[in-house]
Amino acid sequence: MKKVKVGIAGLGRLGKLHAGNLAFHIANAELTAACSIMPAELEYAKNELGVTDVYTDFDEMLAKADIDAVAIVTTSGMHCAQIAAALDAGKHVFCEKPLGVDLEQCRQAEKAVERHPELAFFLGFMRRFDPSYAYAMEKVKAGVIGKPYMVKATGIDPEALVQGAIRFAPTSGGIFIDMAIHDIDLMRWFLGEDPVEVYAAGATFKHPEFKDANDDETGVAMYKCASGAIGFVHVGRTAPHGYHVETEVVGTEGTLRISPVPEKNLCVIYDKNGAVKECVSGFPERFAEAYLKEMEEFINCVQEGRKPEVTVYDGTKSTQIAFATTEAYREGKPLKIEY
Ligand SMILES: NC(=O)c1ccc[n+]([C@@H]2O[C@H](COP(=O)([O-])OP(=O)(O)OC[C@H]3O[C@@H](n4cnc5c(N)ncnc54)[C@H](O)[C@@H]3O)[C@@H](O)[C@H]2O)c1
Repeated sequence: MKKVKVGIAGLGRLGKLHAGNLAFHIANAELTAACSIMPAELEYAKNELGVTDVYTDFDEMLAKADIDAVAIVTTSGMHCAQIAAALDAGKHVFCEKPLGVDLEQCRQAEKAVERHPELAFFLGFMRRFDPSYAYAMEKVKAGVIGKPYMVKATGIDPEALVQGAIRFAPTSGGIFIDMAIHDIDLMRWFLGEDPVEVYAAGATFKHPEFKDANDDETGVAMYKCASGAIGFVHVGRTAPHGYHVETEVVGTEGTLRISPVPEKNLCVIYDKNGAVKECVSGFPERFAEAYLKEMEEFINCVQEGRKPEVTVYDGTKSTQIAFATTEAYREGKPLKIEY
């Protein structure tokens, strides 16, 4: 079968990772073009990825490059416009989360996807492709824990990276929009329904700079669904031990816990500090396999004419929930979530 030719837009922190997977690790994909507004990143594409067909303008890449699909890994505010332009140009689309930065943009992306049922649209909620999360979902589907009625999802960035988070805080949209979107997606995925009510709060005890940016270093949100099922999301930026992503799914017959200790690997170091298990340092390390698997699935969907499991509507819903959470946090009271 013919390889899927892909053009990537955005070669920043995550773009480089996706580009490396497409160029070197996915047998039925070929990275043939790259686009970035940063000249140094285009040099990277040429020198490190062997991609010579490079662009500083996204629309020009769509018009001129020999590509079947695009991977959009640009700044979040660009996603929806680029999704629509790429689909209208007849390209299959992989797009990083979040779908958009406001509801209006998300609706535009929905319309573009609806205009092109012949094309694949894939949204990068990669945690669903992490082997442990995928395994947990298999157990849920097999009925091992009965009916799931509560999800507790935690996502805390390593304190080692806190200065970057402080610099980004004034433009991040707040901790729930910036950080909670993956946890919200997991809650919806495991519960199989959307929350209709949210209460949220935040706290800052270590880095007052977050308060200066009208934000907090820790955020918690509690959600209630129409069935009575409950979600609890805890996000933060000050995990001293590493990158802590943990999820608990509680059902009528049992509980699943995914990554209660964010272990780096199976090695235990016995030394003067005791028996030490090191932790993962950040998202590229923790979810390396998930990023590869999600991109493989995208390419397979394109080749086989299949529709990806995560839809554009999942993107809109998670964005809506993150915004409602921010509103509840700012108002300091429970809010109904309207869809
Ligand atoms: N799934 C995850 O776990 C995860 C993790 C990190 C980032 N992300 C998402 O990935 C996206 C990129 O994040 P990042 O951390 O790599 O950001 P980054 O700032 O490091 O990179 C952004 C890239 O976008 C490019 N860009 C901006 N505007 C452009 C345009 N008009 N045309 C072409 N290129 C353009 C820049 O040149 C740069 O290469 C964001 O939407 C972010 O939310 C997802």
